[in-house]
Amino acid sequence: MPVITEINDLKRIYRRRVPKMFYDYCESGSWSEQTFRENTSDFEKLHLRQRVAVDMSGRSTKTQMIGQDVSMPVALAPVGLTGMQHFDGEIKAAKAAEEFGVPFCLSTMSICSIEDVAENTNAPFWMQVYTLKDDDFMQRLFDRAKAAKCSAAVITVDLQLLGQRHKDLKNGLSAPPKLTAQSVANMMTKVQWGLGMLQTKRRFFGNIVGHAHGVEDASSLSSWTAESFDQSLNWDRIREFRKMWDGPLIIKGIMDPRDALEACNVGADAIIVSNHGGRQLDGALSSIRALEPIMDAVGDKIEVHLDSGVRSGQDVLKAVAMGAKGCWIGRAFVYGLGAMGEAGVTKALEVIHKELDLSMALTGHTDINTVDKDILMIPKDFSDNWK
Ligand code: GLV
Repeated sequence: MPVITEINDLKRIYRRRVPKMFYDYCESGSWSEQTFRENTSDFEKLHLRQRVAVDMSGRSTKTQMIGQDVSMPVALAPVGLTGMQHFDGEIKAAKAAEEFGVPFCLSTMSICSIEDVAENTNAPFWMQVYTLKDDDFMQRLFDRAKAAKCSAAVITVDLQLLGQRHKDLKNGLSAPPKLTAQSVANMMTKVQWGLGMLQTKRRFFGNIVGHAHGVEDASSLSSWTAESFDQSLNWDRIREFRKMWDGPLIIKGIMDPRDALEACNVGADAIIVSNHGGRQLDGALSSIRALEPIMDAVGDKIEVHLDSGVRSGQDVLKAVAMGAKGCWIGRAFVYGLGAMGEAGVTKALEVIHKELDLSMALTGHTDINTVDKDILMIPKDFSDNWK
């Protein structure tokens, strides 16, 4: 058993164990990947203020996200095709999250369906919803989430169309994977992954196949998004979705203070400052740089979360210090899942929790709820001073 001390250890094992097509899907940004890279490198531009001789005993990372108790301010982000990274991947990740006391959010583009996850877990999970043209599909998706007792809906507003990820096109990404000489040769080297996949019947987009009508190739993410996603989405349409769902609502994909204020106006409970992990608009600012002006614009009007680029507990600490009520991790948990299934997701959460807990202590805090900007050293031109 390898010694895992950081998220990158899980990534190395993940890369060895999972077919290239799915590793590449996870580990890509759009076009030149500038935003994908800066999401992580910009965290390093923020420094933490070390304090000493402060009583560090009796620490707690417990807090709340949208009023729900969490053992640390971290949620598992909705990630498409998670069930291709490891068999029954969404169920495994949801179980690990439940055990750890953090929220799990299921993607519309998941392999395991809403009902599969509900049947195999006890804690309520959150449901991510893409904005499709088909009203009937949308209403049924919200109804299915309600029947599954989901305790929040997350509407993603930054994917009316899909940003181009070169590797997915070159690999012919699909679920289940199309059998070409290249994909078969690669999959034959991923024995554990393949044996796992043989154990499950869940190999298709579980929320789509049998639920969405008129989709010509439901195995292909790119053709499904091109055919079904609503390119004419606007805030009035989002208001209609608000009416379809009467539970807590989170809007994901906000990068501009003006859009953050619009989200307040539609009655959302929280927003996620996110550039979709650098997978949509290449050249957009990193999320951590976009956070402060958004916090300033919304004030206390709405809870603000952050995703994109979070790979460590120190990253979580920095985002929380900037004012985020919680962070979302996508790739960091997928590395664990692909490496070691449910145990790997637990490991990823343990690594991040330990980093958060110890780093918080070294900044002189024993309670995550007291952490504020005072622990941060922010370069003068970090968030503004743009022409
Ligand atoms: C879907 O959400 C993706 O980024 O591929």
